Amino acid sequence: MLEKRTKIISEPLESSLPIRLDLRSWPEVESYLKQCKGVILPIGSTEQHGPTGAIGTDALTAEAVGLELGRLTGIFVTPVQAFGMAEHHLGFPGTMSLKPTTLINVINDLVLSLAQNGFERIFFVNGHGGNIAPLKAAFHQIYSNAINQNLPVASNLRLKLANWFMVPEVFQEARKLYGDREGQHATPSEIALTLHLFPSLLDKHLPLPAPAPVGPINNHQDFRARYPDGRMGSDPYLAKPLHGKILLEIAAKSLSKQLLTFLEES
Ligand code: NI
Repeated sequence: MLEKRTKIISEPLESSLPIRLDLRSWPEVESYLKQCKGVILPIGSTEQHGPTGAIGTDALTAEAVGLELGRLTGIFVTPVQAFGMAEHHLGFPGTMSLKPTTLINVINDLVLSLAQNGFERIFFVNGHGGNIAPLKAAFHQIYSNAINQNLPVASNLRLKLANWFMVPEVFQEARKLYGDREGQHATPSEIALTLHLFPSLLDKHLPLPAPAPVGPINNHQDFRARYPDGRMGSDPYLAKPLHGKILLEIAAKSLSKQLLTFLEES
């Protein structure tokens, strides 16, 4: 596994295309599995991100980090799971949420599909805090199901959750750039990454009044009452496309170490 990865890493990759699972044929995937059992699965959310942020922010950022991570390591990347657990954002139009139990079952089915054909290491690059609890619950359900279904890979199956926005180096850079105005939702760091990926988003990137302060997250009606424009303590106007480029590089570089360690773990 290591030899093949080293070989892949040493090859200059001009784009992320070679590591996209959705652009590979099944014989190519079968051949890849003879060398490497690992895959990156980006997961985000489709939900409001304040009055100036894109609804797809969490999915777009997770996908970008996942693809950059794949490009750095040569590990295949699945299509992004763009829908997450966003029940608390349902007071805002455009939000599309999966209930916690639905998300657990979706992740269960996707991972078991991969595992059935030999994938043993699934590395989740997550872009949304609301997905963390359902993902952790799903992992335990999947481990049990893999054993109960007698999957050949059951004993070697390992699942890892990596939240790109919580990587210590990313967190430090966001603090350096934005201080307390990073906030907790519709943050300038995640918005900066979307501006880097899609410069047309600058058209709606406008100054905003002071946001509601960070506080608890309860039901979606309470959320909208507490945080009327959708932001939690953040000033996304501080975001610049160049920041997004830097944060993407920091996240992918840091996660590449985590991923390679994960692939070698027993
Ligand atoms: Ni977000």
